Amino acid sequence: MTTPQGAAPSVFGVDIGGSGIKGAPVDVLAGALAQPRHKVLTPHPAEPAAVAAAVREVVEHFGHRGPVGLTFPGVVVDGHTRTAANVDQGWLELDAAGLFREALDSPVVVLNDADAAGLAELTHGAGRGQRGTVLVLTFGTGIGSALFADGVLVPNTELGHLELRGKDAEHRASSAARDRHQLSWADWAVRVDEYLDLVERLFWPQLIIIGGGVSRKHDKFLPLLKERAARVVPAELRNDAGIVGAAMAAAAD
Ligand code: BGC
Repeated sequence: MTTPQGAAPSVFGVDIGGSGIKGAPVDVLAGALAQPRHKVLTPHPAEPAAVAAAVREVVEHFGHRGPVGLTFPGVVVDGHTRTAANVDQGWLELDAAGLFREALDSPVVVLNDADAAGLAELTHGAGRGQRGTVLVLTFGTGIGSALFADGVLVPNTELGHLELRGKDAEHRASSAARDRHQLSWADWAVRVDEYLDLVERLFWPQLIIIGGGVSRKHDKFLPLLKERAARVVPAELRNDAGIVGAAMAAAAD
């Protein structure tokens, strides 16, 4: 798809997180931000109307008109947000796509945050060209998951909520759990290993890509993880994966 001038059309990606809402125009062919991203703080409480206003501020910062892809940290089916584990309960069973379409007066696509990061990694990052079963896991406030079979996404797998030692796995092994319990990298790596054992036994992925904010510090913990059948590698797009993946989803719509 090109404009009459031959330039790539402008697609915008927004990553909605617990602390910040970040967005930028994206070069979806290159899998990179077309301009430095703009971030605003996530309103508290993160009620839908307040978040929509913050998203509008981010998009208007660039004067963007046209399709917008947005991530959401919960289950999203047909533009409706169905769970709200770490966000305001007002998102439960909400027509989020309708809300953002109205707020931005633009076509929108809403998808799970880990699914967006996964799409970006599989096309432009650590999972480029990978066939077979690939699992992208994001470690942050929660644990997000994106499952791919021969490059095709199975959305909303929500593997952060598998049960580990009688608890939601993300309560034990997320990056926030490491902070909360003031765990050393070695102690946290034991918990991550236990979690990876669990997902490996269920899905037998050939490749596990570790994303989320903590992937920036992969040299601190990846070498501490035990050997396993799956290759475990750090994400390559890091902080931009959600924005890029959201824009990719909007461009494909
Ligand atoms: C949510 C997922 C999300 C993950 C990372 C979990 O608590 O249920 O939908 O992908 O956190 O933000």
